[in-house]
Amino acid sequence: MSNELMTSKISRALEETARTKNHVSKGRMRQCYHFMPETGWMNDPNGLIFYKGEYHFFFQFNPYAPFWGSMYWGHAVSRDLLHWTYLPPALAPSESYDDHPDGGCFSGSAVVYEGKLWLIYTSVSDQGKGIRQTQSIAYSEDGVHFLKYEGNPVLEAPEGINPSEFRDPKVWNHDGTFYMVTGASQNGRGKALLFSSENLKEWKWINEIAASRGELGSMWECPDFYSIGGRHVLTFSPVGAGDHTSVYMTGAFDYKTGKLESQTAREMDWGLDYYAPQSFLAPDGRRIVVGWANEWQWMPKWKDWGPTFKEGWCGFFNLPREVGFWEDGSLQFKPIRELESLRKDACAFRQISVSEDRTRLRAGDGISYEMKFLIDLEHSDGDVLELELRAGNGRKTVCRFDFLRNELSVNRNHADGWSRGISRSVMKLHNQTQMDVDIFSDRCSIEIFTDHYTNNHSNNVFAGEDQRDIFIRAEGGSFVIRNFESYGMQSCFDQTLGE
Ligand code: FRU
Repeated sequence: MSNELMTSKISRALEETARTKNHVSKGRMRQCYHFMPETGWMNDPNGLIFYKGEYHFFFQFNPYAPFWGSMYWGHAVSRDLLHWTYLPPALAPSESYDDHPDGGCFSGSAVVYEGKLWLIYTSVSDQGKGIRQTQSIAYSEDGVHFLKYEGNPVLEAPEGINPSEFRDPKVWNHDGTFYMVTGASQNGRGKALLFSSENLKEWKWINEIAASRGELGSMWECPDFYSIGGRHVLTFSPVGAGDHTSVYMTGAFDYKTGKLESQTAREMDWGLDYYAPQSFLAPDGRRIVVGWANEWQWMPKWKDWGPTFKEGWCGFFNLPREVGFWEDGSLQFKPIRELESLRKDACAFRQISVSEDRTRLRAGDGISYEMKFLIDLEHSDGDVLELELRAGNGRKTVCRFDFLRNELSVNRNHADGWSRGISRSVMKLHNQTQMDVDIFSDRCSIEIFTDHYTNNHSNNVFAGEDQRDIFIRAEGGSFVIRNFESYGMQSCFDQTLGE
């Protein structure tokens, strides 16, 4: 019976998408090569997995409005992580355990078990005692149509854990046993809990993998846990931890104790728009992580938000990034190599001398492009290297490499008449002779990578079509730029822009 309600809610959502998608696809802010919903609202990546020859992306989805609401799981598939086919939503709120109007089917993950694709998600309800978050499962034989398990929910908050802050299960298989990490809050402090199961239905508590001691917020959203080259990585998005939006901890880990041995957090991205990242394994063994290009702090979730809502959509994912360790022990997040296949209109210079006069740079159409270069630190004596991106019509986003104060900053206070904020990070200059820079710009985002992809800034910028200029200039001396290359980026979506 119950799955009938989900099926009919999915059909209604599909009708709504069919009704609005033509209009929404003409939106001028729609990205060219970043994953986004066909229509409506999107937040966290969910259930990222490679299954039966295709990548599956699920996502927190409201098909009815470009605002957050009762959550569905949107769904799309791809063979190259660039071009996507949208499928019907995989999950809709339909049961007494997941039908809270300000809840529904919250974030989670996917695994393959006994040939089926299983989704593990947070079911949010209110059964008279306030919000209750539990973990539930659903399965599919064809990877498109899902059935919720009759025995849901399969896991409730352990004693002492706030039942309204127990969510976002990430499940993986290790040596034939399933493990789940969930975000939780206890006595107002965030933590990541570890459970194990042989069948996805019965779960056993193991330990807290890590916990805030007050410095890392009141709740850890969307935790993830994996190993790279034998070293373990925990990532999460802490709530109420100031500018920390997505952090990672690395260290030794033993499944018997379930405790990560180092509890020091570092930033996954210093930008203002990188949240709830989730990772998955590509068939070639790469660990790829995808974040939601936003952050609740910048998002009054109950109000109109940002220029794209007027076009009938809101939210996209940051570029998928391959995770690795850099030699100093920090994690690298490198945009996946598949993106190279979108390059067009190449432009290259072996060397550019940058003085205090502005020099114009060329990269694609100035809106949707990649631009890479090295800053030759041995042959430069300037104090600051400044880039103006998406400039025009008196507006710009300003990226400053300040070598006097050792600070990289991205300022969007004058970017689009709407966005605000400056993201800042410390550069790794010690013993360096050059600094690598890789910039990806799309219609409403700028992602800047440097220091071997260990120091990254993702910021949304809702710049107009007349903002296509790129300038570079020096302060307090000059700079030598080497190996400059830039490319326009082909669009991955069918786009006919509206008037
Ligand atoms: C993170 C988050 C999750 C939750 C989901 C709800 O952005 O708040 O903790 O599951 O979004 O949409």
